[in-house]
Amino acid sequence: MIKPATSDPRVLIVDDEECVRTATELVLRRAGYAVVKADSATTALELLGQGSFDLMVTDVRMPHMSGVALVPRALAIDEDLAIIMLSGANDIASATEAMKLGAFDYLMKPASVDNLTGTLAEALRRRGLNRERRRVERLIRDEVEVRTADLEREKRSLRTLSVSVVETLVNAMEAKDIFLRGHSIRVADLAASIGEELGLDPDTVENIRVAGHLHDVGKMGIREEVLNKPGPLTTEEFAHVKEHVRIGMDIIAPLRHLGPVQDYVHDHHENFDGSGYPRGLAGMQISLGGRILAAADAFDAMTSRRAYRDSMSQEETLAVLGSEVGTKLDERVFEALRRVVSRNGALTYIADVGNRR
Ligand SMILES: [Fe+2]
Repeated sequence: MIKPATSDPRVLIVDDEECVRTATELVLRRAGYAVVKADSATTALELLGQGSFDLMVTDVRMPHMSGVALVPRALAIDEDLAIIMLSGANDIASATEAMKLGAFDYLMKPASVDNLTGTLAEALRRRGLNRERRRVERLIRDEVEVRTADLEREKRSLRTLSVSVVETLVNAMEAKDIFLRGHSIRVADLAASIGEELGLDPDTVENIRVAGHLHDVGKMGIREEVLNKPGPLTTEEFAHVKEHVRIGMDIIAPLRHLGPVQDYVHDHHENFDGSGYPRGLAGMQISLGGRILAAADAFDAMTSRRAYRDSMSQEETLAVLGSEVGTKLDERVFEALRRVVSRNGALTYIADVGNRR
């Protein structure tokens, strides 16, 4: 049965001497190779660019571009190409150099038929092994990439899930009290707007938003009659309420991926002059996220109605908070809050006008 030509290994013979090309072609055709010939390295590169070859047998010494110079260029076109150098007695050093550059082997001219076909068969076998090794390496690399991406995705969704579980707890807790309803969501949005107003990077703004959602999660551990008590708290009750920061930190401590979010939650009741709690930090010792949350938290608390008092207007609230710059609040943060509120106030006004039409 005649084998289809396409299954024959394809070999490119490169030699500037026609008689060598023809003799080599004859031997290789008889051995079952499909042969293409090139009379120079330049032609060889053109042919390599046009079609795929399994092997290349090339002379070392040729005008314009030598066989040695051809090796790396040919491999750049096809990294799987098996290259055999045909070397004269004076060119052994060059042939050795070509092997360092990636040629498989070299043969001395004139090569015997057995030597030529044996060397080519061995080169083909090694080429097959190399291709298989590279294929497996590629598979492993691809698999590792896919797994890494999967893992990264799972990590991200776990992050989102763990944060949303805590958010749900906070929302459920706040929903029980009409005066607290939506407090954390509003603080989160306002704090994030202040962060943007201060020109913070998007990741930090997002961390501040998450911290806004979680900042009062510790209130779940505070007795309800104290939490909802109309009127001023006793010293004991106030000490109990302050505990919500520590309890909140205990709740979110296992969510280590939160990183700076934990610091922001920890610092949301610190005062700029060091008179706050739980650690009594002052000035820049307080994380920026903590200082922003403190301002947003105070603003929302004052502009919301409580069981024991009416809500204050935004202007009144800003006036009170302005007087607390340097004691409770960071001036830079307060100024950003003021700009955000006045901008939002203008938007509310536009919306009201629109609604009246
Ligand atoms: Fe709080």
